[in-house]
Order: sequence, then C-alpha cells, then structure tokens
Amino acid sequence: MTDVYRFRRRRKSAAMRDLVRENHLSCDDLILPIFVQEGISEPVTIDSMPGVVRYPESQLAQAVQSAWQLGIKAVLLFGVSEHKDDTGSDTWSDQGLLARMIKTAKQAAPDMLIISDNCFCEYTSHGHCGVVCDHDVDNDQTLANLQKQVVNCARAGVDMIAPSGMMDGMIAAIREALDTAGFTHIPVMSYSTKFASAFYGPFRDAVDSTFKGSRNTYQMDPANGREALAESLEDEAQGADLLMVKPGVAYLDVIKDIRDHSSLPLAVYHVSGEYAMIKAAAQAGVIDEKAIVLETMTAFKRAGANLIITYYARDIAQWLQSQVAS
Ligand code: PBG
Repeated sequence: MTDVYRFRRRRKSAAMRDLVRENHLSCDDLILPIFVQEGISEPVTIDSMPGVVRYPESQLAQAVQSAWQLGIKAVLLFGVSEHKDDTGSDTWSDQGLLARMIKTAKQAAPDMLIISDNCFCEYTSHGHCGVVCDHDVDNDQTLANLQKQVVNCARAGVDMIAPSGMMDGMIAAIREALDTAGFTHIPVMSYSTKFASAFYGPFRDAVDSTFKGSRNTYQMDPANGREALAESLEDEAQGADLLMVKPGVAYLDVIKDIRDHSSLPLAVYHVSGEYAMIKAAAQAGVIDEKAIVLETMTAFKRAGANLIITYYARDIAQWLQSQVAS
C-alpha cells in the first residue's frame, strides 16, 4: 500500500501529537460562575449540581480569592435575593445584593475580572427576566430598568457587564446608559444567542427560583440556526464587546457559525444541565469525568469559542496544573 495517505504518522508519540494539536484549553479561557445567597450563614449545597454551592455573603471574598489562587481570572456573579419585588428594584439600589457582591469580590481580589450577570429573574417575585405586563415581559420598560441596574454595577466597580435577559435593544440601551454615566471603558459581554433551553433546569434549583413559567417569548427557539446568527450579529452592531452562545454542547454548530461571521471574542456557557449530566454519569460510574470534561471544553474551542463559562472551572484549573507538573 503506497497510495494511501498515512495520518497515523502524526499520531505516533505524545510529543508529536502535542506538536500538531490544533486547539488548547487554558486557564485563561475560563470564567467561574459564583452564586451568593442573602440570609444564610453557611454554604448551601445544590442537590442537582454536586460540587456547586450557594455561598453566604460572608464567604464570597474567600471564594473569589481561592479561585484566583487556582489561576482563574474571571468570575460571574449571581445573587439569590431575599428582597424580591415586581420589577427587581434591588438590582439598581447601591445597597442591594448585586452592588454588595461586586464590591466584596473586587476588594477580595482586585486583579480578578469581576463580571455581573445582569438580569432580573433572581430579583423579581414572579421570576421573569423583566417587568411583566399582560402576562408577558415588557421589553422597553425592562430596558429602562436594566439601564439603572448596569450603572449601579459600574458604580460598584464591576469590570464587565453581562446582560442575560434577551431583551431586544439591550446592548444599545446599556451602552448608552454606561457612556452617559461616564463608564465608556466598561465592556459588555452579551448573552447574545441564548436559547430557551431545558438544560437550565438545575440552575433554577441553584437560584431557588419559584419560576414555573416559560421564557419562550424572549429566549430563542432551539430550532433556529439562522436567527441564532442574526441575534449575535445584531448585538455586535449595537456595540457588544464579546458575544456568547448558551447552552454549549447542543449548539456547537451555532458557535461555529457565529465564529465564522464575527471577529469579536466568543464565549460559550456550559450550563447547569450540562454540568449535572456529566456529574450524574460520573457518579454512576459510567464515564471518566475528567476526560469527558476536558474533551467537551476542547470541543468548544474547536467549534470556535474563545472563552468558556463553566461550573467545572475550578476542577479544570486544577487538572491543567497537574498536567504541567507531570
Ligand atoms: C438568568 C440566567 C439563567 C442562566 C443564567 N442566567 C437561567 C434562565 O435563563 O432561565 C442559566 C445558567 C445555567 O443553567 O447554568 N437569565
């Protein structure tokens, strides 16, 4: 056999495979989500997400510092509020949970990139991502509140704003509010293509959401690929600095499509359900957890994602360190 191309020539040794590997996962790629709950004094475990906890505010500083020590350079803050109302007004109070979390995290690790998840669902009594009118979320009233929220976050010292509510025009509204308030330097990472996904199930546990409805009138239909690209390109046109696809594994085609049509950095959110599925399979002893996680993350990079938001960030940071050491 002489006329066949032998791909195996490049797979013969570990050193050769390392040399020709196309994609690499690094600690620099990772963003760790952190949940903080008001009114608790000890961490609360989340049954569907083993290894993930809701921290009391008093332990946020330590959680951020320990992530920094592992080499994680960015955290995404989620608050579980005790002060819920119709509009989520706690989010634009300078004494509110969102502002307090940002200040605490920033003070604990000044060089860490502190990112706020900017939405209302953890702060509204009904659990929707904005102001409800006639049984639906009112886009423009929600935008006006979102403008107050992001300025509040900027004043508290946030490094990057990450709006996740899938309101139309949210990036333009945020940019205008930040710029007017003198925060022209604060970047916006849009949850630009966010699907109405069953993979968020365990997150609803995590934030203790009483929400039983659907977000189908604002989050995207999982069936739509062309619209998925249009959503992200629209946010780019409105001034987004980073784009995002969420969830991850079921949407690799969307990641690739956006990567091919935009030059912006692209994040992928490996969501709660994706985490929970790997954990459950690992605990059942049917998969190799570390290998599956690293393969999944590398697949995100191959598809074109540049950064990864994942509850596995701490584990990955540790695994990557031990690879260097061995
Ligand atoms: C809030 C928000 C959600 C997630 C992040 N921000 C839930 C939702 O939209 O229902 C999901 C995160 C995850 O599942 O890990 N808008």
